[in-house]
Amino acid sequence: MTAQSASGQLVLVVDFGAQYGQLIARRVRDLGVYSEIVPCDMPAEEMSALVPAAIILSGGPASVYAEDAPSIDPGVLDLGVPVLGFCYGQQIMAKTLGGTVSHTDKGEYGAAPLERLDGACGSAQVPESMLFAGTPCEQTVWMSHRDAVSQVPEGFVVTSRTDVCPVASMECSERRLYATQFHPEVRHTPYGDQMLSNFLFEICGLERTWTMDSIIEDSVAAIREQVGESRVILGLSGGVDSSVVAALCAKAIGDQLTCVFVNHGLLRQDEPEEVEEVFTKQFDVDFVHVHAEDRYAGLLAGVTDPEAKRRIIGEQFWKEFFAVAEDLAEDGRPVQYLAQGTIYPDIIESGARKTGGKASTIKSHHNLIPFPDGVHFDLIEPLDHFFKDEVRALGTALGLPDHIVHRQPFPGPGLAIRIIGEVTPEKLTMLKGADAIVREELDAYNEAQFEERGERPVWQYFAVLPDVKSVGVMGDERTYQRPIILRAVESSDAMTADWAKLPCELLGRVSSRIVAEVPGINRVAYDITSKPPATIEWE
Ligand code: XMP
Repeated sequence: MTAQSASGQLVLVVDFGAQYGQLIARRVRDLGVYSEIVPCDMPAEEMSALVPAAIILSGGPASVYAEDAPSIDPGVLDLGVPVLGFCYGQQIMAKTLGGTVSHTDKGEYGAAPLERLDGACGSAQVPESMLFAGTPCEQTVWMSHRDAVSQVPEGFVVTSRTDVCPVASMECSERRLYATQFHPEVRHTPYGDQMLSNFLFEICGLERTWTMDSIIEDSVAAIREQVGESRVILGLSGGVDSSVVAALCAKAIGDQLTCVFVNHGLLRQDEPEEVEEVFTKQFDVDFVHVHAEDRYAGLLAGVTDPEAKRRIIGEQFWKEFFAVAEDLAEDGRPVQYLAQGTIYPDIIESGARKTGGKASTIKSHHNLIPFPDGVHFDLIEPLDHFFKDEVRALGTALGLPDHIVHRQPFPGPGLAIRIIGEVTPEKLTMLKGADAIVREELDAYNEAQFEERGERPVWQYFAVLPDVKSVGVMGDERTYQRPIILRAVESSDAMTADWAKLPCELLGRVSSRIVAEVPGINRVAYDITSKPPATIEWE
């Protein structure tokens, strides 16, 4: 199924390499309309085949006149679909339609006072702009540019200006083409949401159909239609994504579903027991616990390369699922489908398997590794167009308990990608011990903050075991042992993250406890890097 089918309306965000591309799609979804990102070199015909209800051209870092500047198929502006361009999007619209873009004397970065020039603000020549409806004649917008449109294309009017930028926005309302030099998608443009709403609901005539209830209803219907009478196994990790898929599938196909939990021995302390407890006691689903710890330990022995570890773990997952499917099929009902909790950022960062985009492979997410020889399933991935916080909202709407919905993300390859270098039983024991302390202390901190401020500030937190040793002194004795690195980040969707500004007392307590309670560790460091340039996990 596509997420579009869940809402019937699709807004395409055409990506010119924008810093804010994801943000535009999120803002549109937050307004209740489904939105997806597509690469800027997608031909108009292909875009048209997706039946978009509206198109938004993102910003981008290049100058439209640079040699390899991204451009757009001019046919996109002739599809009869309303188009809204931001920043580079305005410039590319102007250039493509015969206007002119020039360097401004000085760039314009940050908040800028804007003056509307349309009929609602006294102009006799320019009609009232629907894009600006309900916003003041003088307002603040967020700018980030050096080039700007100097002459608008034929049929366009200028609807606003700033001191630096004579064409802060332009439009041709007959063709429903609109553009702004500023960024309505950032919070620093106070009326940005109003403008986006005006575009989606007044200009394009869309409706707020991207609601949790409609998504559940349509997802359940889509799963039923895809699966028919077939049998499905579900790769369950106990995390929020696969639990939400379990709840959706259970609602859709009931006893055609078997949930399979592969225990690779790389889970956190006490986790396998907790997962088994939840899915045998709290959920009424068919549950299989596969003990694959020894097989994984054998396969990972001697392996140090991060991508090699990911590949081995991912491939073995498929094999384990396939073995379960073959066992189940002995009763004469074969398993055709594998359902899993792949979400949108997994796909983007694994190299755009389905988006057709140009994203490079940052990490091969475990569930996007190709099937090994002899293994095949048809896949059901009902969450492959969702961001993490949307999955959580879906979980709540499906009635999942809070402790699952707010569980912090945990990667499929588990602690193997938090042990730098070879995974050994000794290192696993050290990391599990340290991680349990990190979780205990930060769970308590997050919950206390939730009580006080209504939000859990730290999004993900864990321990990493690097492949180095350092000298220390304990009880007058020299030690030569491993450090633990504490990673704690704030994020909403894992696409970007900032390191958490934890109180010093908390950091101190975590450090003292780890060194005192975990044999083999003599030092604790705190990772203070955001994503980008780092990633959340170390491998
Ligand atoms: P990075 O390290 O890429 O992680 O910034 C982003 C988010 O994804 C999680 N992650 C994974 N999740 N399978 C998963 O299910 C994987 O292979 C995987 N790798 C990273 C990571 O924990 C973070 O929340």
